Amino acid sequence: MLHKLGFKKHSKKLDAQEQREQEAIKHPIPKHVAIIMDGNGRWAKKRALPRVAGHHEGMKVVKKITKLANRLGVQALTVYAFSTENWKRPKSEVDYLMKLPEEFLDTYLPELVEENVQVRMIGYMDSIPEHTKRAVKKAMEDTKGNTGMILNFALNYGGRAEILDAVKQVLNDTKSGILKEDEITEDIFSKYLMTGTLDDPDLLIRTSGEIRLSNFMLWQLAYTEFWFTDVLWPDFSEDHFMEAVEAYQKRSRRFGGV
Ligand code: FPP
Repeated sequence: MLHKLGFKKHSKKLDAQEQREQEAIKHPIPKHVAIIMDGNGRWAKKRALPRVAGHHEGMKVVKKITKLANRLGVQALTVYAFSTENWKRPKSEVDYLMKLPEEFLDTYLPELVEENVQVRMIGYMDSIPEHTKRAVKKAMEDTKGNTGMILNFALNYGGRAEILDAVKQVLNDTKSGILKEDEITEDIFSKYLMTGTLDDPDLLIRTSGEIRLSNFMLWQLAYTEFWFTDVLWPDFSEDHFMEAVEAYQKRSRRFGGV
């Protein structure tokens, strides 16, 4: 009986979530969602756990939100997993964070493949540890034929460095004659960024109550809708993601027009 009741309660909850998703997809779904997943350390501290326990819990949330975003028809989900500034953290924490992509991919890659998700990465691949690089490269290779949502890891990523590198590349190409100065438009410049042909994010979510960009996608976020929440990333649920999407659907985007 208890078991039955428990099951009923669970299926009722699923129905409510399903209904909410069905309702949401009747309205424009953000094509590209970017997330600054913040608050793992504070989540762990509140529970007297080591900071890395918060990162581990946060990893599980990435999986849940990836599945939901894919179900809703989001075309790309970019998650900020490690910034170029995060190297300043204690070595043990950096080492742990660099192991997480492997654990995430080892555990979930078959499911992601089944769900047609494509794994990609933006960031400085050359300076991440060999084992992390191997895992990410394998995931990109194994999912490159998939046609569903792009799960884009920002790993060892920094927005200013990305822009500077693009500027240097543009200079090189103009010097060598591949590109003429009057051909440098915003569209062309965008292609030199790590996001390449990916559309700019429509919606940016940042958790944990911090209201700043922390060097994340500085060029790409120019016209993005921002949604902030006090919820710490490990506590971020499907309900919170739906709240963000629903808030986005109520915004009026004018892109500088009237
Ligand atoms: C910020 O929280 C979070 C990070 C720097 C790491 C984000 C990584 C994850 C959520 C794990 C997911 C990774 C993969 C590869 C799936 P913080 O540590 O700055 O938290 P605090 O501000 O409370 O200290």
